[in-house]
Amino acid sequence: MLADSYGRVATDLRVSLTDRCNLRCTYCMPPEGLDWLPSAEQLTDDELIRLLGIAVGQLGITEVRFTGGEPLLRRGLPGIVARTASLSPRPEISLTTNGIGLTRLAGPLRDAGLDRINVSLDTLNAETFVKLARRDRLDDVLAGLAAAADAGLIPVKVNAVLMRDINGNEAVDLLQFCLDRGYQLRFIEQMPLDAQHGWRRDDMVTADEILTALSAKFSLTPDDPAGRGSAPAEAFLVDGGPARVGVIGSVTRPFCGSCDRVRLTADGQVRNCLFARQESDLRTPLRAGADDLELADRWRLAVAAKLPGHGINDPGFLQPARPMSAIGG
Ligand code: 5AD
Ligand code: SF4
Repeated sequence: MLADSYGRVATDLRVSLTDRCNLRCTYCMPPEGLDWLPSAEQLTDDELIRLLGIAVGQLGITEVRFTGGEPLLRRGLPGIVARTASLSPRPEISLTTNGIGLTRLAGPLRDAGLDRINVSLDTLNAETFVKLARRDRLDDVLAGLAAAADAGLIPVKVNAVLMRDINGNEAVDLLQFCLDRGYQLRFIEQMPLDAQHGWRRDDMVTADEILTALSAKFSLTPDDPAGRGSAPAEAFLVDGGPARVGVIGSVTRPFCGSCDRVRLTADGQVRNCLFARQESDLRTPLRAGADDLELADRWRLAVAAKLPGHGINDPGFLQPARPMSAIGG
């Protein structure tokens, strides 16, 4: 098991397959992009599958989510998914993508064993999309979403990040768009993970503000089947259901106390938190011939050291050295 000293157990592994991306979202990257990882530093498919085998076989990982950068840019992605699906015990396999390329890849990914997909969509306005992602690709994202649904990757989940002066007024339109198509929408508060360190608390549209905006058009009731009790509600039934909307207050309503995630970067570093300031290198021992037991031990130690929370709201908060695109969402 991957347990930490606060009683949490990590079962959900998020794997960044590449730090590259074909968009330049302002909350993630500077316009010129970043210095991409040299390919020799990136785990090969074989190295990655070996680590995933250890994760599911020895460390209790039950869900593998592939992220980026943009994971669809990783060559041979359907093959990686297929090899992950043949691990034992087979994990649930999901993907977080910006959607560009899904018209070609949704079917092959589904056939390879992909179980679920999350597509990022922050705006329905082509001009706003260019402002936000610095590329004119809204149509490709919308086509990708439709392709995912056509391929049977349902329910298609959509992630949206709102920023006050860019797309801050689109909460209602985004929800209506998703309701009309049967997509499940989740809003995520903008976190300080951009490479340029440009995050400002005042620009973030908070969970409370999103709920207020949605309530002007829809009736929202907390949907809390697990009875998480005092935890702030995250999922809401829309107009009595069955449709739902999620509002993830990563900053204003942190859920670190129930976190079950651990991350692996494209260059083989374990991160026990998005906001971790330390990483544990698995690639070097792996390439030096370490056996599975040693790699599993290193992985356990990495998770054991996990801090209780992200600390974004603490006065001394420091952003992690690596940006979101190198960590994976
Ligand atoms: N804050 C919140 N969400 C972010 N994402 C990327 N950067 C940030 C940020 N700074 C989201 C993307 C995508 C997922 C991988 O994380 O929009 O949905
Ligand atoms: Fe690319 Fe995702 Fe970063 Fe946007 S948020 S630039 S889609 S990695």
